[in-house]
Amino acid sequence: MLLSVCVSVCVLALLMSSAVHGAPAKGPCARPRNKLLFISFDGFRWDYDRDVDTPHLDRMAEEGVRAAYVTPPYLTITSPTHFTLLTGRYIENHGVIHNMWFNISTQEKKQYYMTQFVDDYWDNGTLPIWITAQRQGLKAGSLHFPGTAATYQKEEVGVKQVEPFLYDHSNETDWRLNVDRVVGDWFARRDLDLVTLYFGEPDKTGHKYGPDTPERRAMVQTVDRTVGYIRHAIQSHGLTERLNVIITADHGMTTVQRGAGANEIILSKIPGFSFRDIKFHLVDYGPSGMLLPREGMLEKVYSALKGAHPHLHVYKKEDMPERLHYAKHPRILPIILWADPGYVINGLFPVQFNKGEHGFDNEVMDMKPFFRAVGPDFRRGLQVGGFETVHIYPLMCHLLGITPEVNDGSLHVTKHMLLNADDQECQTTDESVHWNLMVGFAAVGGLLLVMFVVMTTWTTCKRRRMESYR
Ligand SMILES: *[C@@H]1O[C@H](CO)[C@@H](O)[C@H](O)[C@H]1NC(C)=O
Ligand SMILES: *[C@@H]1O[C@H](CO)[C@@H](O)[C@H](O)[C@H]1NC(C)=O
Ligand SMILES: *[C@@H]1O[C@H](CO)[C@@H](O)[C@H](O)[C@H]1NC(C)=O
Ligand SMILES: [Zn+2]
Repeated sequence: MLLSVCVSVCVLALLMSSAVHGAPAKGPCARPRNKLLFISFDGFRWDYDRDVDTPHLDRMAEEGVRAAYVTPPYLTITSPTHFTLLTGRYIENHGVIHNMWFNISTQEKKQYYMTQFVDDYWDNGTLPIWITAQRQGLKAGSLHFPGTAATYQKEEVGVKQVEPFLYDHSNETDWRLNVDRVVGDWFARRDLDLVTLYFGEPDKTGHKYGPDTPERRAMVQTVDRTVGYIRHAIQSHGLTERLNVIITADHGMTTVQRGAGANEIILSKIPGFSFRDIKFHLVDYGPSGMLLPREGMLEKVYSALKGAHPHLHVYKKEDMPERLHYAKHPRILPIILWADPGYVINGLFPVQFNKGEHGFDNEVMDMKPFFRAVGPDFRRGLQVGGFETVHIYPLMCHLLGITPEVNDGSLHVTKHMLLNADDQECQTTDESVHWNLMVGFAAVGGLLLVMFVVMTTWTTCKRRRMESYR
């Protein structure tokens, strides 16, 4: 009788111990991995939906997350800010410091498109998210996104489409073909985990006509229709519950002052300044510029320009305001110039005729893009405040369940956008290591406890048995 009690207690203890060991690890990592579509509509300013009907963007906001705005890194131009989206690093840290590649010894310059193919310009020690995802076993693709053409540490994004030279970035029919390719072919058929998708509008229209024009408003409606088309494509391929979508942009746009009253910035007209003192320059490129003075000429050039125009800011590289994070990289030239909103920097004479420009200080509200997100991991109908775009990268890594590279962002800034906000520790290395350790300790602890129970029970039973013999 007592023996059978002892046996049942022992069996129970054994069952309990196996239950401890066999319990599924019902912790953070129970969440399934969803796919991610990351979209940039070039130059879509944070407030572009305020004076236009945007039913599809509105619906996306109701079903997902909408930020008041996001703050791009300085310099607020296309390639540098897109590479920040892909890496989570400030521009001085990732090294893609301009849309143009240049060589200060040969004076050679390459425009935006040709620069896309200069591998060692992009591959300057920071890996874009595609490569990191691929190294951790995921499949990545990119369509027209800046940086797509380049090779990084001998790897390239696995599935890519680079736009041809002189591509028409404004053709809505082409946009839909691109969406069909990404959603139908790349996600649904080829099962990619991450795709970055780029549209060259409303930037082009904003430059040409200015941001406060009927043309820009019409283009925003085209963008909105495209958002509707994208969400419909996702739905009809049955991907809605498995695909997160983030839509943002690289920078905003502001109107350039024109006409008789406009006090234009023309460097050659500034007393005491001469291009003969300059070894290499990058001007006539919107509101920013960089100068490399000839040997011994730095102070002369600097003092001629500093304070010479009420809307021109002149900085030595080492004196740049730290908040701009645009000084440390060796590619940045010794003198940096930028203009107040509405002004552009001309060299010898005015050669810039865009009605809209970007490239200004990233604190200027007109430089800030929009941000929207929707999908299985995002909360619904949530409005959040503004945040810096460096924080988007850790969010994307978290959504994909990959370990991020070193970056300047933080998941803490964006994690409140996610469902199961208490399950955040899953994917970040340190914390998942901690979790594994905890599970390990729990298992070992459980085993010890069981052994203790078994031993004690056994001893007790034995004693009881001996006592009964007495
Ligand atoms: C610039 O050109 C010089 C001379 O051809 C070359 O030695 C140097 O490596 C080039 N620099 C870059 C950044 O390509
Ligand atoms: C980054 O570029 C700079 C200047 O072009 C160069 O000196 C440096 O070696 C590059 N770093 C890496 C890791 O590619
Ligand atoms: C727009 O793109 C489509 C598909 O590539 C093409 O057939 C059409 O000719 C283009 N339209 C214009 C106006 O270029
Ligand atoms: Zn752009």
